[in-house]
Amino acid sequence: MSMDRFHGHVVVVTGGSSGIGLATARRFAREGASVAITGRDEHRLAHAATEIGDNVLAVAGDVADVADIDRLFAAVAKALGRIDVLFVNAGLKRLHALHDASVEHFNEVFDVNVKGAFFTVQKAIPHLNDGASVVLCGLAPVDPAWRRPGTGIYTASKAAMKAFTRTAAAELAHRQIRVNTVSPGPINVPAAHLPPEQMAERMRRMAALSPLKRLGEPEDVAGVVAFLASRDAAYITGQEITVDGGMS
Ligand SMILES: NC(=O)c1ccc[n+]([C@@H]2O[C@H](COP(=O)([O-])OP(=O)(O)OC[C@H]3O[C@@H](n4cnc5c(N)ncnc54)[C@H](OP(=O)(O)O)[C@@H]3O)[C@@H](O)[C@H]2O)c1
Repeated sequence: MSMDRFHGHVVVVTGGSSGIGLATARRFAREGASVAITGRDEHRLAHAATEIGDNVLAVAGDVADVADIDRLFAAVAKALGRIDVLFVNAGLKRLHALHDASVEHFNEVFDVNVKGAFFTVQKAIPHLNDGASVVLCGLAPVDPAWRRPGTGIYTASKAAMKAFTRTAAAELAHRQIRVNTVSPGPINVPAAHLPPEQMAERMRRMAALSPLKRLGEPEDVAGVVAFLASRDAAYITGQEITVDGGMS
């Protein structure tokens, strides 16, 4: 693998301050790209930017707020110029059972995962180079749904995003802009809402269910995003690539 595959490319990763987004931003930076990341927590974002490397642009903002998305792309345009790769990764997982989910619960998840993703792509369009690659972060259909009570709002939001990938691919094809979804299964990213012991137990359980007997690492997803952004994927658009160790 060439270590300067993305030399001269501008890459934007939403939710680049932790987990899959951080690993992906690190991967592109390592392969020569100029990288911009976004996230809400400024402290975490600044820390991530330093960790990724020199000259990483960190723009704090909430993708649920369309004005923040405008600010992100204005800052990227000013500092880095036009965009070659956009990874729409910022996402929120919240568990609410059907019988007690409120409208606020629903809106919180859909505002980030659906509205945020839709307007991130829309607002990026004037800043994308022809031939750019857009990758959205979906969700692998791991397990039958009956084993995952409480995931209704989250899985519905990711299904909406996947559907949108296909229409966006069709609408942007005339500019050779490709739009695909990468759909991770269980990835080794600590969930902030769970105590560490509960998290470790859950991770062990998920790893045991996997044919490969391990969880995915954020780097496993980053490699697929880099592939989709590369020339090797020049004839792939409107598709979903599942990264789940064979669980679905
Ligand atoms: N981990 C898994 O097993 C897994 C499986 C399937 C799919 N995914 C998807 O992978 C993506 C990344 O998740 P992750 O596991 O890496 O989680 P994570 O470590 O919690 O990272 C989420 C990132 O998104 C940012 N973010 C969240 N809400 C945001 C908002 N409203 N505006 C801007 N940034 C926001 C977070 O920063 P701030 O909190 O500071 O804003 C953080 O940088 C998500 O779309 C998730 O649904 C994850």
